Amino acid sequence: MAVAGSLTVQMNKPGVAVSPTLYGAFFEDINRAGDGGLYAEMIQNRSFEDNPRLIAWTPLMSPTAGASFDLDKTTPLNANNPTSLKIHVEKLGGDRVGIFNQGFKGILAAGKAPNTTDEWRKEFEAAQKKSTNGLVVKGGEAYRFSIYARTANPPAKLAVSLETQSGEILSGQWITGIDGTWKKYEVTLTPKADNSDARLVLSVTAPGTLWVDMASLFPQETWKNRGLRTDLAEAMADMHPGLLRFPGGSFSEGHILADAWRWKQTLGDVAQRPGNWDIWGYRSTNGLGFHEYLQLAEDLGAEPLYVAHVGMAEKDFVPMDKLEPWIQDVLDAIEYANGPVTSKWGALRAKNGHPAPFNLKYVEIGNENGMGYGWGGGTRADYLPRYKAFYDRIKAAYPNIVCIANIHTEPDAPADMVDEHYYETPDWFFDAATQYDHYDRSKPKLYVGEYAAKKGAGNGNMIGALGEAAFLTGLERNADVVKMSSYAPLFTDPAWQGWKPDAIVFDNTRAYGTPSYYVQKMFANNRPDIEFPITLPSVPKGAKQALFASAGVKKDSGDLILKVVNRGGTPETLNLDLAGVRASYPGGTRTVLSASSPTDENTFDQPTKIAPMEDKLPAFSPGSAYTFPPYSVTILRWQGK
Ligand code: AHR
Repeated sequence: MAVAGSLTVQMNKPGVAVSPTLYGAFFEDINRAGDGGLYAEMIQNRSFEDNPRLIAWTPLMSPTAGASFDLDKTTPLNANNPTSLKIHVEKLGGDRVGIFNQGFKGILAAGKAPNTTDEWRKEFEAAQKKSTNGLVVKGGEAYRFSIYARTANPPAKLAVSLETQSGEILSGQWITGIDGTWKKYEVTLTPKADNSDARLVLSVTAPGTLWVDMASLFPQETWKNRGLRTDLAEAMADMHPGLLRFPGGSFSEGHILADAWRWKQTLGDVAQRPGNWDIWGYRSTNGLGFHEYLQLAEDLGAEPLYVAHVGMAEKDFVPMDKLEPWIQDVLDAIEYANGPVTSKWGALRAKNGHPAPFNLKYVEIGNENGMGYGWGGGTRADYLPRYKAFYDRIKAAYPNIVCIANIHTEPDAPADMVDEHYYETPDWFFDAATQYDHYDRSKPKLYVGEYAAKKGAGNGNMIGALGEAAFLTGLERNADVVKMSSYAPLFTDPAWQGWKPDAIVFDNTRAYGTPSYYVQKMFANNRPDIEFPITLPSVPKGAKQALFASAGVKKDSGDLILKVVNRGGTPETLNLDLAGVRASYPGGTRTVLSASSPTDENTFDQPTKIAPMEDKLPAFSPGSAYTFPPYSVTILRWQGK
């Protein structure tokens, strides 16, 4: 066993403090992360507003029936929800006439404009005919169905059923007494058997005219009763993020201002939320709204970070002299999150179920605005005056709010923190492991708010994860400057994927973590409070550095945590020089993520092909040799007490 040299942890030298927010999460409704993902609503196009034509709902009737299903705006449920479904039946032609919904079967997001083209619709309809990824129901479990309905022929009734694709009824209920005015009806459906490609069917058994809206189906059991899909929320919670950035990303900016996410439109009764066009190719219901994001952060034990709109969408901007309402919007958002229940917006928060303040500390002023990207978001010259107008007003009203800038505003404007984004190659990430070693400490603190090995990282492969892990050792070593970070994007349904790779991959039944997910989890679950200076053997000129490392200590337990990344295909042995504090280490835990090839990935068929292996770390004498396996991330954690 050739020893490549010594890894020295200078435990006797004062190290930098690591912020509890260093490892965070960034949630954006991209790739169906929200609607069709974490948000447990099972019905696609529940409010019939998703598309100018009827999508995700398919008529079900005999060829001899005389019936029509039309989107109708004549008698809206409310002004924010103008379209309803008009079901008009002249002749049954059989036992019933109905329409069914199969949940979030769909197709790849088609781009940045509303998917209304014939070509898109054809693809969508073909995807709807696939025999997978329909509604997933479990036998014996309860599902809450609700719908608004009215009729021209009172009293009318409507059958609601969960059915197999061949029409076997798994559970059915009647909604009766429907009259001429909009009313909400609720029933519970409990399927008699499991089915992973089911349909929700609405049907009538008599001629007449009915209007329906907000047809919604939720599992009775959701994560913490918050209406979130349990497996996805748990995967997120397992990351133990110290920070939750929301609601986007480009999603928060909108392609155009008219599509921007406006937090006030995402509060209260979901039937009153207008939703907005999601830049990632579908309409968002905003069932996950401002309140829900704040609640999610609280449930995760993470600091909320609100990305506020700075009046700049990707393609159009609010003129400077019309910025005031947009600034006021952010001040109101802060009051909603933090204000007393006697304040206007604090009172609404209390009414929405959370009298205690959410304690929002971080507000990012815009997303990627001013970066001068070719596809939009504005230049530095567009961003600076708007940023400054927001910054000054937020600071005047709320001096303790940490304002985060999208670009380095110095020397033209102050910033409490700057958000940097990196979507690069794995090699870039290995090289960038040292980039903050040389950061000018007089400049603002940093939040690496979006990053991922993208080019050359497949669907989320091992070499990408190794690059990110190496980069994270650099963030940890420079935790005096880098206060927060978040990998992006967090979730994807591959059937709707607009961006890859992502940390958590799901379909209607399953979810798995990519190697990058496990890196996030390993680093966050082993975040030291104080970092020690570290030295690795020097690398001959022209050779690539194989090993990357960071080390630190937990204040409460005294645990010593060493993280080492071996990017190469050969094992690397080092003498671990941990002298200076203790003579020996009784033992602890070892967590290793490794792969046999740099291009290895997890898949639905092999969801844990690459997953951390944990075992007991034997007693260890400082100075002993330790071998780090090929393509691996190793965390050695010695007990302090
Ligand atoms: O994370 C995906 C996208 O990348 C985000 O929406 C945007 O901020 C960035 O360009």
